[in-house]
Amino acid sequence: MDSNNAILAISLLFSIWCATCVAQSSNVYNVKEHGALGNGKNDDTKAFQAAWDVSCAVEGNPTILIPKGSYLVGPLLFKGPCKGVMTIDLRGQLLASTNLNAYTKNWVDFQYINGLVISGGGIFNGQGSSAWPYNKCPKKWSCKILPMSLVFSFVKNAKIKSISSLDSKLFHIHIFSSENFDIESVTINAPGDSPNTDGIHVADSTNVTITDATIGTGDDCISIGPGNSNLTISNVHCGPGHGISVGSLGKNSGETDVLGLTVRNCTLNGTTNGLRIKTWQSSPTLLKAAHFTYEDITMNNVYNPIIIDQEYCPYVSCAEKDPSRVQIYDIKFTNVKGTSSSAEAIKFICSSSFPCQGVILNDIDLHYTGDARGNKTTTSTCANVQGKSNENVKPNPCI
Ligand SMILES: *[C@@H]1O[C@H](CO)[C@@H](O)[C@H](O)[C@H]1NC(C)=O
Ligand SMILES: *[C@@H]1O[C@H](CO)[C@@H](O)[C@H](O)[C@H]1NC(C)=O
Ligand SMILES: *[C@@H]1O[C@H](CO)[C@@H](O)[C@H](O)[C@H]1NC(C)=O
Ligand SMILES: *[C@@H]1O[C@H](CO)[C@@H](O)[C@H](O)[C@H]1NC(C)=O
Ligand SMILES: *[C@@H]1O[C@H](CO)[C@@H](O)[C@H](O)[C@H]1NC(C)=O
Repeated sequence: MDSNNAILAISLLFSIWCATCVAQSSNVYNVKEHGALGNGKNDDTKAFQAAWDVSCAVEGNPTILIPKGSYLVGPLLFKGPCKGVMTIDLRGQLLASTNLNAYTKNWVDFQYINGLVISGGGIFNGQGSSAWPYNKCPKKWSCKILPMSLVFSFVKNAKIKSISSLDSKLFHIHIFSSENFDIESVTINAPGDSPNTDGIHVADSTNVTITDATIGTGDDCISIGPGNSNLTISNVHCGPGHGISVGSLGKNSGETDVLGLTVRNCTLNGTTNGLRIKTWQSSPTLLKAAHFTYEDITMNNVYNPIIIDQEYCPYVSCAEKDPSRVQIYDIKFTNVKGTSSSAEAIKFICSSSFPCQGVILNDIDLHYTGDARGNKTTTSTCANVQGKSNENVKPNPCI
């Protein structure tokens, strides 16, 4: 190549690069430019929907900017596939409509997206308190389901970082049939007595990570449904709430295995459960829950710090009482320390048809805070469980 051609090539490359850089910098879709007022009173749903629909259809990697302010929005459907990676830069606060008739399903629904980033320090406020009295689900088998706050279905390569979710009407975050999904530095809050306000529920998903989160709710901190593989939870602080829970598994037919869960460096404070695995009796499908590692966990005043319950049946109407058909195996608990608010700090009630196998306890130190008479005797209970413990386990393990 002679020097003229080289200069031509370089200037051509530069102009292509520059066109890209200009396109990127103008690829910001401010919801205010689509008609959002952000005064907390006007219904800004249409503006948000328009900003998504326009930006999803363009080439490049668009950013939807939600500036500081409060935006009242009803249900939103953020549906792909989109042409590029979608970024939502949430600096303000979204307020969910309190009119329950406005919802057919969830509040903010993300579907069929490959490449999604949500960040910016803002807040998703579900304004759940007026809806909670309408939740009859804890008492009834069939109940009208309230909208969940953020639902991701069939979403790949996503990152949610530095945002908060407050007072959801039902679950705060639900991840379903998704892959390669990272949640980092999120804060989730709802009162300890709010019904079914689970923090993060994950189902049928692969390669999900949750790290550096603070979650206080009225239900599970993180709940792990069927069909998950390779889920990693680290540096999470839970409480109040029901703890980190796998299950309930085995309720519906067609559920698939949960394989590969790591829970590391987490704190549970004042929760009803710490590390829980629960499965229904009489499960219609045979399935596995296996290869779980729990390590470096601090319990502070937790009612059931370590619990496997395969006789889960919260409703009066559990017709049959056949043993669970969920096979639990290769479950390791290492370095779990702190206080229990019940005497029974370790409880393994496994299935008589499919006993738990390979349950390992290493370096466990759990102490009952004591009953009214100051009795601090701490116990463990085992049924249908095989495994082993090292010499450094308190209370005295039953395996
Ligand atoms: C599990 O997921 C993590 C994070 O997404 C990833 O780094 C790791 O390679 C995955 N492991 C397997 C076996 O897929
Ligand atoms: C999970 O992550 C591993 C390692 O990065 C990767 O090889 C695998 O393809 C991922 N699985 C899915 C379903 O994306
Ligand atoms: C454990 O988690 C806490 C926050 O929950 C964090 O500050 C600390 O750095 C973590 N430790 C490790 C080894 O990751
Ligand atoms: C633990 O929970 C109690 C009671 O809700 C609260 O007062 C305390 O600040 C919490 N501790 C931590 C470290 O979050
Ligand atoms: C203390 O509690 C343990 C376990 O609940 C019980 O077996 C024991 O009898 C109690 N001791 C006293 C002195 O009440």
